[in-house]
Amino acid sequence: MGVKLITCGLPYANGKAHIGHLRTYIPADVYVRYLRLMGENVLFICGSDCHGTPIVVNAEKEGMHPKELVNIYHEHFKSVFSAVGVEFDYFGRTDSDYHHEMTTQFVKKLVENGYIYSKEIELAYCPKCKRFLPDRYVEGICPYCGAVARGDECDQGCGRYLEPGEIKDPRCKICGTKAEFRKQKHYFFRLTAFREFLLDYLDKLKGTENALNYAKEWVKKELKDWCITRNLEWGVKFPGENLVVYVWVDAPIGYISYTKEACRLKGCDWKAIWIDGISNGKIRWADITHFIGLDIVYHHCIFWPAMLKGADFALPSAIVASGMVKVEGKTFSKSRGYVVWLEDDYLRRGFHPDYLRYYIVNYTSHQKDLNFSWRTLMDKVNNELIANLGNFIYRVLYFTWKNFDGNVWEELDEFNLDREVIDNIAKAKDEITKALKKWEFKVASDTFMELSSFGNNYFQSMEPWELIKKDKVECARVVANCLHIVKALIVLSYPVLPFTMKRVAEYIGMNLDCIKIDSVLELDNIKVVKKPKPPFKKIEEEEVDRVEKVMLERIRRAEEVEKKKEVVKIEDFSRLDIRIGKVLKAEKIEKSKKLIKLEVDTGGEVKQIVAGIADTYSPDELVGKLVVVLVNLKPAKLMGVESQGMLLAVDVGGKAVLLIPERDVPPGSRVK
Ligand code: 2FM
Ligand code: ZN
Repeated sequence: MGVKLITCGLPYANGKAHIGHLRTYIPADVYVRYLRLMGENVLFICGSDCHGTPIVVNAEKEGMHPKELVNIYHEHFKSVFSAVGVEFDYFGRTDSDYHHEMTTQFVKKLVENGYIYSKEIELAYCPKCKRFLPDRYVEGICPYCGAVARGDECDQGCGRYLEPGEIKDPRCKICGTKAEFRKQKHYFFRLTAFREFLLDYLDKLKGTENALNYAKEWVKKELKDWCITRNLEWGVKFPGENLVVYVWVDAPIGYISYTKEACRLKGCDWKAIWIDGISNGKIRWADITHFIGLDIVYHHCIFWPAMLKGADFALPSAIVASGMVKVEGKTFSKSRGYVVWLEDDYLRRGFHPDYLRYYIVNYTSHQKDLNFSWRTLMDKVNNELIANLGNFIYRVLYFTWKNFDGNVWEELDEFNLDREVIDNIAKAKDEITKALKKWEFKVASDTFMELSSFGNNYFQSMEPWELIKKDKVECARVVANCLHIVKALIVLSYPVLPFTMKRVAEYIGMNLDCIKIDSVLELDNIKVVKKPKPPFKKIEEEEVDRVEKVMLERIRRAEEVEKKKEVVKIEDFSRLDIRIGKVLKAEKIEKSKKLIKLEVDTGGEVKQIVAGIADTYSPDELVGKLVVVLVNLKPAKLMGVESQGMLLAVDVGGKAVLLIPERDVPPGSRVK
């Protein structure tokens, strides 16, 4: 049987794993586990994306070599994946020799086939750092929308991908110096040569509609040749030049180099997958499904197939893109604090990995945006997993253990499943199989939950706790039916809840290692039931309160940092008319403890100003003082008295301390 290759987008080894990553990896892992249940021969690979300017810039900031930074995060991702049950057959790294070798061969093939050419282009160069400024080393203005943008992407404006040399008014990100433009030879991939091919390919490519629809639109618009070299030391060398290939060229080649490594270790044939493929019309299809996030559809549906075609490789048969993530209803953002860090926030706080797996596949369809909220997690665990699935499994197993010493078979000479039990199990199995063909993980998980509801109703309506008193054999028959529903539930929910279901399977002496989906209707696999424990532990309100508090604090701190970062232009400051004033008169406002009404000479104009300074100053001591006044503040009434400006003061523990000029200056002098 041919190998089905499933891949996940390679995470940058540049930061900690968060819920945004799992949005793609967990459904991919669930899919792989279901495929294996269905008897498919699957290879599941991924690995670290180790190159690119963000990694170099971060390593520089930390005073490390990029390799050291990559080592840290590569290990981090491996350990998080294992903790949440995402089990890749191989997890490689793009800074390894085998990957460099594969990328070099790939690029050479593109050159040989005439899809790469060189051209002199004008690039941002920092005269102070004496270097060209690739991608994130440069900041400037987006030529399309005028927003502040990074060298490779207009991340705060129109979102466009920017080619080297496109950015306007570039500045060096390291030293802030205004960059010059200098000429240099770079290499381009002839993407424009692939338009017809891509139109045909995308028409036949399978996958989720979100990915395919975007990609088809893009190809119909103009394609541009693509600059594939960068001025960096860290990366895969472009053959014969002192340049490296762009990270988006070498990263997807990781899918091939990791397959080759996986095959070397497992004894399969990587060429059968990536080179031979399965010819069908003009296209050589590889049995490959790429799971990716919606933000990297362009790279996977446009650049990548064109590169593969250009270098004579077979082509992926499906692209499955997950929707984006929100946290507590807000757009996911690490810098604003709307993030769930898997290690710190989730795993270390003792939340079970299966809960997150269930949440991610069951919250909404794979293509839609997923909102993560701690309270919803609690609801889904307590009201769905525990109240429905956990309840059914536990009550059946406990009842069997308690009333039959775990062995119902001793009571039954002959046993057949009830028709409605067979029908419900068969229906669940078929619906899940169908749902997976469309990557509908929510439908699949809803389906086993429905089977569990059926189980609960069946148990309830048969009243085995009454039967046991009257007819032990009939009771055993009912319980045996329930045990088969439990068995079906273990098998059908195992891909989503692997940790829990492995433990539950042990209570009935069942081994899940090589289990196949068809076994759900077979009358075996259930041995003597051992004393069970409830499959799931409730999430308590206090746990949610605690973790929500941590998050609120993080959001508050992020807001503070943002405020500090906020800069105003000199033009903004000069809109404020701030002048020195001399207090001519001052009196307390009756009925107010804090307010004093002042008459202040602001240079040719006397303004009435109400100030909350009575705690600190008496009216008498104010008369004759020089003060600092914002004179063009919109007038407002305080306790019914109009104030035509504002005195500038410092708040010291709730009391106002006035700002005064350091030496005598004439009233009306402008503060600049
Ligand atoms: O966007 C990202 O996180 C990239 N590191 C994904 C690379 S996927 C593939 F092309 F390798
Ligand atoms: Zn823009």
